[in-house]
Amino acid sequence: MVKVEKNFVNNMFSVEGKVALVTGATGALGCVLAKAYGYAGAKVFMTGRNEAKLKALEDEFKAEGIDCAFHVADPAQEDQVDALVKACVAKYGEVNILAVAHGYNKPQNILEQSVADWQYIMDADCKSVYIVCKYVAQQMVDQGKGGKMVVVTSQRSKRGMAGYTGYCTSKGGADLMVSSMACDLTAKYGINVNSICPTVFRSELTEWMYDPESEVYKNFLKREPIGRLGEPDDFVGFTLFLSSDASRFMTGGNYDCSGGYLTC
Ligand SMILES: NC(=O)c1ccc[n+]([C@@H]2O[C@H](COP(=O)([O-])OP(=O)(O)OC[C@H]3O[C@@H](n4cnc5c(N)ncnc54)[C@H](OP(=O)(O)O)[C@@H]3O)[C@@H](O)[C@H]2O)c1
Repeated sequence: MVKVEKNFVNNMFSVEGKVALVTGATGALGCVLAKAYGYAGAKVFMTGRNEAKLKALEDEFKAEGIDCAFHVADPAQEDQVDALVKACVAKYGEVNILAVAHGYNKPQNILEQSVADWQYIMDADCKSVYIVCKYVAQQMVDQGKGGKMVVVTSQRSKRGMAGYTGYCTSKGGADLMVSSMACDLTAKYGINVNSICPTVFRSELTEWMYDPESEVYKNFLKREPIGRLGEPDDFVGFTLFLSSDASRFMTGGNYDCSGGYLTC
């Protein structure tokens, strides 16, 4: 008898009814992921520091029938993250999925960068991941039903770049943190922790790279077998996969989502 459950196969990609907490929900990737979770039938709890943007997203999503809410928080501030998780539980009773999609960069040569500016990047991109994952993990452990964590890092987590001593270091730290958290959380508590490492996806910060006539764009395409740069909705499928039972045997991984950037 071939061993695979029909019910599992038919439902393995579903996140319906799950509670998904999304950080950086005001950002280019975060807002698309939040809406995608909603379209997939999850209850969506959004966070970021910008209340006006969060409110606008809530209005937009609710108008489409998505069950959602938000709470303003800085992910690098422990007391605010504690309050965030409590607010999500007060609203929806639990947290089943965490998508970490906030981030910051201020490229600067190490010789010109102040230690304070470097530390700010480290706090925004690395310490904040630790705090958010720690508080959500504790909540998931208390719930006793496992969970899924997906952290958006960067292809820059694996390679250096001029002006990126803060960003590359923090993203590299976040990737190793993900692998370490998997060792702490998966076998014992059923919490899968993975990261996705994007190349360039369209956002306010990257829009300038999308001019097809520019040298930057042409040079980038030489390393993009897929033949274009990323759009935020290209990120949805992989994130939902890592948020669902379909990825139940995957944990601690830092996965490429780059249109093949690493292959040539
Ligand atoms: N887009 C790309 O090409 C690309 C490539 C590689 C990696 N990534 C990574 O993917 C994630 C999402 O990227 P994105 O393009 O969606 O970014 P984005 O559009 O710039 O949005 C990121 C969100 O993070 C929050 N944020 C900004 N500065 C912060 C800080 N100092 N502390 C805490 N939160 C802060 C902001 O929300 P609030 O102001 O509401 O807090 C912002 O909306 C980030 O981690 C980014 O590093 C993106």
